[in-house]
Amino acid sequence: MTFLRRTEIKEGTALNTGETKGDGKPVQSSHVEMVELVLPNDTNQLGNLLGGRLMHWIDISAAMAATRHSNHVCVTAAVDEISFLHPIKLGELVVLRASVNRAFNTSMEVGVKVFSENPLTGERKHSNSAYLTFVSIDSIGKPVTVIPVLPESQDEVRRFEQALFRREQRLKHREETRRIWSEVTSRQG
Ligand SMILES: CC(C)(COP(=O)(O)OP(=O)(O)OC[C@H]1O[C@@H](n2cnc3c(N)ncnc32)[C@H](O)[C@@H]1OP(=O)(O)O)[C@@H](O)C(=O)NCCC(=O)NCCS
Repeated sequence: MTFLRRTEIKEGTALNTGETKGDGKPVQSSHVEMVELVLPNDTNQLGNLLGGRLMHWIDISAAMAATRHSNHVCVTAAVDEISFLHPIKLGELVVLRASVNRAFNTSMEVGVKVFSENPLTGERKHSNSAYLTFVSIDSIGKPVTVIPVLPESQDEVRRFEQALFRREQRLKHREETRRIWSEVTSRQG
């Protein structure tokens, strides 16, 4: 596996965002491609893949990418909205491509792109995209810092830059949720 110096990131992409300094890993070194066959137990009464099963596979593929990047156990901290663009049928293949878009301090944004594939015709359809936040933890569950991600291709640089915006939105949402909960619990208490 090749480890690149952080200074090799294209100028302008390395913002001061709480990311750790030092060596990093290219996106491709932790990329995961996972393929599942939709079996009867994965479907509803209409023979369509259950949304919950797909969410499980999304979570697993993303966890593998985060763990490969950080070389620590990683837990799911947040999952952004997931939309289901079209049904996936019994007997189709589900191809999940997961990669770490950006690492911050102890957390990482992982993007998962999901395709359905008809194995008889080879036809592929993009069915979902999801963003998940994973936190790297030690043996007692304490968050530990992760090394930076080094984007190389144009798409990787675009995802790296956009991940910062999404993180800001998530953290604002988390603050707002905490504020509402503390108001509700103080009213009840
Ligand atoms: C995720 C967890 C380790 C965070 O621990 P914590 O004590 O809240 O730690 P912090 O507040 O310091 O957050 C650690 C990192 O997580 C990020 N984070 C935590 N909650 C987040 C959220 N809802 N959205 C985005 N990022 C989040 C923080 O921004 C921080 O990232 P950074 O270090 O890169 O800046 C802890 O909440 C936990 O163990 N949760 C349960 C995880 C789990 O069981 N997941 C399975 C799903 S059921």
